[in-house]
Amino acid sequence: MIELILNDQKITTDLPPTTVLLDFLRRENKLTGTKEGCREGDCGACTVLLGELKNEKVFYKTINSCLVPIGDIHAKHVVTIEGLNQIELSPIQAAFVEEGGTQCGFCTPGFVISMTGYFINSVIQNVDDAIEALGGNICRCTGYTGIIRATQKSINVYEGLAPRKNHFDKLVTGKFIPEYFVSIAGELKSIKTQKRIVRNNQFMIGGGTDLYVQQWKDIVQSSADFISQENISKEILQTKNQIRIGGAATVQDIIESHVIYKHFPTLRNQLQLFGSLPIRNRATISGNLVNASPIGDLTNIFMALDAELHLKNGKKKRSLFLHEFYKGYKRLNKKENEIIEWITIPIPPKKFYFNYEKVSKRTHLDIASVNSTIAFTMSKNRINCVGLSAGGVAPVPLCLNKTCEYLNGKKVTCENIKSAALIAMDEISPISDARGSAEYKKLLLRQLIYSHFLMLFPKQLNAEELL
Ligand SMILES: Cc1cc2nc3c(=O)[nH]c(=O)nc-3n(C[C@H](O)[C@H](O)[C@H](O)COP(=O)(O)OP(=O)(O)OC[C@H]3O[C@@H](n4cnc5c(N)ncnc54)[C@H](O)[C@@H]3O)c2cc1C
Ligand code: FES
Ligand code: FES
Repeated sequence: MIELILNDQKITTDLPPTTVLLDFLRRENKLTGTKEGCREGDCGACTVLLGELKNEKVFYKTINSCLVPIGDIHAKHVVTIEGLNQIELSPIQAAFVEEGGTQCGFCTPGFVISMTGYFINSVIQNVDDAIEALGGNICRCTGYTGIIRATQKSINVYEGLAPRKNHFDKLVTGKFIPEYFVSIAGELKSIKTQKRIVRNNQFMIGGGTDLYVQQWKDIVQSSADFISQENISKEILQTKNQIRIGGAATVQDIIESHVIYKHFPTLRNQLQLFGSLPIRNRATISGNLVNASPIGDLTNIFMALDAELHLKNGKKKRSLFLHEFYKGYKRLNKKENEIIEWITIPIPPKKFYFNYEKVSKRTHLDIASVNSTIAFTMSKNRINCVGLSAGGVAPVPLCLNKTCEYLNGKKVTCENIKSAALIAMDEISPISDARGSAEYKKLLLRQLIYSHFLMLFPKQLNAEELL
C-alpha cells in the first residue's frame, strides 16, 4: 500500500505502483487543476511539487507528474495547484492575474507551481533565475511578457514583506504557501517506509524520464522494480583518488554537488541545457548511461572522463569501464538484473582542462544533434592523457581513440587542432536523419573540436585561423 500526503490530506492507495501520478491525481482524486498536455515531459502543464523528508526538514522540488510512477511518492508530500489555493489568491497567483500572465489558463497551474517551487528554494530571488526555473513550462497564448512581469511582481511582493524568523515562515505569513505546510514534516515522519518488493520484474524504473516517455502504456500494465527501493545511493563523494557518484544521483544532484563544482566548475552551466528543471530533478545519471542513446549528455561527458561502472546483481558485483559498456545500438554489456550501484571517475590532476559542447536544433529543452567532451592535462606545453568523446555520430556513444592518440604529446596550435579534427571526422560513421545529414554531422563534430580548444585557450588561438 502506498501512503502519502496529497495537499493537506494523508491518503493511501492500493493502485499498482506503476500508475502514472498525473492519472492518479486527475482520475482517482479528481484534482483536474493539474493538466495533461504532451505526456512526454515537454510542456510542464502537469507540474506538481514533490516534498521529501530529510533530516527533519521537507525539501520540495518540481516534477512532471506525467512521468512519475506513484511507487515513487510513498511517504512524500505531493502538492497540486489545489493545494496552493487559499481563501485569497497567493501573491504569485495574484501577480499572474494582474500582469496578464494568463489567457486561456491551461498552462497557468504548471507555471504557478514552478514559480512557487522557485520561491520555496530561493531565499534571495532574481528574475533571471526564476525564469530558468520556469524553463520547463510552455505557454501557447500569453507570449511570456506578462509571465515575466508577474515574476518580477511576485519578487517585489516577497521583498516588501516584514522580516520573519526564517524564509519558510516568511513564505507562510506572506501567503506564498498555505499554513498547513508547517505540519507536513511531522506527518511525513509518521509514515512507515515501504517493505522492499521482490525483484525480477519486467521493468527497473530509475527517474522514469526515458521509460515513461517510451513505454508508459506497457509499464502501467506490468509490474516493475524501483531504484528508489533498491537502497542505491544518491551521494556524490570524494575519496582519495576518485569521485564516487551514487547510482541513483540525478542530473540536478550533479549540478548542486560541491565536489563536482570543485573539479568541473563549468559543468554546472553546461548541464542547464539538460532538459528542464523538473526533468533534471528526476533524470538519473545511471538512466542516461543505460538508455544508451548515442546523444545522451551524461554518457558523452562520463565517457571522456574515463568513468567506471560498478554493477551489482544481488550479492554479485563487478566493475567495467563505460567505454566497454556499449556493444552496439542500444546493446549493453550488462545482465538483465544488474543495477548500477556507483559510477566512479578519477580525480582530475593539476593543469586539467575540460569542456563539453552540445549542438541541438533548439538551444533549450532539446536533445543534442551532435555532442562532444574533451578532458586532458598539459605538461611542458604539450597535451597529455586526452579523453575525447563524440555523440550522434555512430550507433553508440564513441570514444575517439585515434584522435586522442594523435593529440597526445602535441602542442596547442591551429595546425594540430585542424589535423585532429580531420582524424576525428574520419573516425566516425554518422547517418542522415531528422537531426541532419551525415555530412553535416561530420562538419558539426569538426566545429565542436575547434570550439573545445577555442573555449580552453581563448588567448592563444585565433578563431579566424581555425574556421
Ligand atoms: C523532456 C525531456 C528532456 C530530456 N532532455 C535530455 C537532455 O537534454 N539530455 C539527455 O541526455 N537526455 C535527456 N532526456 C532523456 C532522459 O531524461 C535521460 O536519459 C535520463 O538521464 C534518464 O534517466 P532516468 O532515471 O529517468 O531513466 P529511466 O527512464 O528510469 O530508465 C532508463 C533506463 O535505465 C535503466 N536504469 C535506470 N537506473 C538504473 C540503474 N541504477 N541501474 C541499472 N539500470 C538503470 C532503466 O531500467 C531503463 O532501462 C530528456 C527526457 C525528457 C522526457
Ligand atoms: S503533460 Fe506535458 S510535461 Fe507532462
Ligand atoms: S495561457 Fe493559454 S497556454 Fe498559457
